[in-house]
Amino acid sequence: MRPIETRFLKQDDIDALLTLEQTKWDRDQAADASDLTARIQAYPQLSIGAFDTSSGAAMTSLFMKPISVAQLRSAPDWVGCARVEESDEEPGNSLFGISLSSVDAESVTAVFEFFWPYALKHGWRDIYLGSPMPGLRAWKQINPDLPADVYMHEMHHGLPRDPQLRYYYNKGFREIVACKPDYFPHPASLDYGAVIRGHIPLSAGNPLWRHVPLPWLKRMRHLLFRLVRTS
Ligand SMILES: CC(C)(COP(=O)(O)OP(=O)(O)OC[C@H]1O[C@@H](n2cnc3c(N)ncnc32)[C@H](O)[C@@H]1OP(=O)(O)O)[C@@H](O)C(=O)NCCC(=O)NCCS
Repeated sequence: MRPIETRFLKQDDIDALLTLEQTKWDRDQAADASDLTARIQAYPQLSIGAFDTSSGAAMTSLFMKPISVAQLRSAPDWVGCARVEESDEEPGNSLFGISLSSVDAESVTAVFEFFWPYALKHGWRDIYLGSPMPGLRAWKQINPDLPADVYMHEMHHGLPRDPQLRYYYNKGFREIVACKPDYFPHPASLDYGAVIRGHIPLSAGNPLWRHVPLPWLKRMRHLLFRLVRTS
């Protein structure tokens, strides 16, 4: 197995993160160095990565930011949701997943698992994100008269029909919040985005977790995180 280090991101990671971005995103989708720098500076405790310690390569990056329900509703597209900015609004307990990029599925699990004790300690309750629906274009060819949100809600054998929604469903993002047209440039999704929501496991136990020392939460994480994720 690859030796992986999972940790909060630093400015020195930009080159490795750019390589990952360019591997996983098209040119008009990938973040550039200034986007990545701005995210890490603004939200250092919400920018996480997993690295192959033998090569230094970034395997997974996850960037999040606090978001209010009002901000989420009023932003028409991904750019509006993901913007790094000062806000006068009370942040609340919700996060928005600006971006997840990965070349290694185990590292994605490691990143979510790494973040979990910090999320409980801080009082974060849920994460929203805007997912592509890469199966939409092909489905629309067969169902030209049906709206995209029919596809977004379509289930097959108890799981979302769309492969990426299915991926997130299996990661705990099970609530569909909105179907947004012109959300981001993504040809296979016909530029639609599915705004979905996942609850942070056991966060309903808040404010209890705030009083539990972080090292204890970290010790609990392997066991509990896997247990609640698979239940
Ligand atoms: C989505 C992503 C983070 C998943 O990374 P991962 O955990 O390492 O998992 P994989 O890429 O191996 O995908 C696992 C499964 O998810 C499904 N899946 C996820 N995204 C998919 C997509 N865009 N199209 C089709 N299937 C997808 C597939 O079923 C895949 O199964 P497979 O192994 O049979 O191909 C990664 O594929 C990625 O960086 N994609 C590009 C950027 C992106 O879309 N990010 C999310 C935006 S919100």
